[in-house]
Amino acid sequence: MWLDMQLNLLVFFFTLSLSTRQGKVYSLATRAAQKVLVVGGSGRVGGSALRSLLQRSKKDESVNIQLTAAGRSVDKWNAYVKSYNIPTNVDFVAVDISRQSEQLDKVVDDYDLIIHTAGPFQQLRENVLLKTVARLGKKYIDVLDDVELSRICRGEEYQSMCKRSGASAVISTGIWYV
Ligand SMILES: NC(=O)c1ccc[n+]([C@@H]2O[C@H](COP(=O)([O-])OP(=O)(O)OC[C@H]3O[C@@H](n4cnc5c(N)ncnc54)[C@H](OP(=O)(O)O)[C@@H]3O)[C@@H](O)[C@H]2O)c1
Repeated sequence: MWLDMQLNLLVFFFTLSLSTRQGKVYSLATRAAQKVLVVGGSGRVGGSALRSLLQRSKKDESVNIQLTAAGRSVDKWNAYVKSYNIPTNVDFVAVDISRQSEQLDKVVDDYDLIIHTAGPFQQLRENVLLKTVARLGKKYIDVLDDVELSRICRGEEYQSMCKRSGASAVISTGIWYV
């Protein structure tokens, strides 16, 4: 039940983030497919979000998305694909978000929206993925559930990076919000 609520929130914020840009609402109907990266897509929360988005895009033609999962282990992703019968049009990209790298920049730069579910967030005092998104001017949603890290991510450093690049980020969504 809690996971359903969480996924509904994710899908809600996802739709919101695709529907607004700098305060203007625009239609998705005439737009090309939006590229969505689910970081942590082989995990419990990210995998559920990914499957929920797949279902939603099947039912609602205005949700025009191309989904990719990301994580460190392709073996873990392959096991997830097998367990949940994930369609072959969902790609996987191997990337480590624990530190900044050229490869991480390259991956993030290739997507319109980044969904960050690659926990644990606990004990971290920097959100490398959010910083990358903020630098590259992308859209972003996470399920960050660490109080201190959430405070840091709402702080001046991240805010000004987003303002400079035009990035938009919705942080700490889900059921265990902070
Ligand atoms: N806001 C909320 O309501 C709420 C609720 C539940 C959970 N959460 C948060 O969500 C997090 C994820 O939970 P979960 O149960 O889905 O965990 P999980 O099943 O362990 O999944 C974690 C996912 O993140 C990937 N990952 C981990 N470290 C990574 C790294 N350095 N680089 C790239 N990918 C990485 C893992 O793949 P690889 O191992 O292949 O990298 C895996 O796909 C939790 O830690 C918790 O903080 C929030």
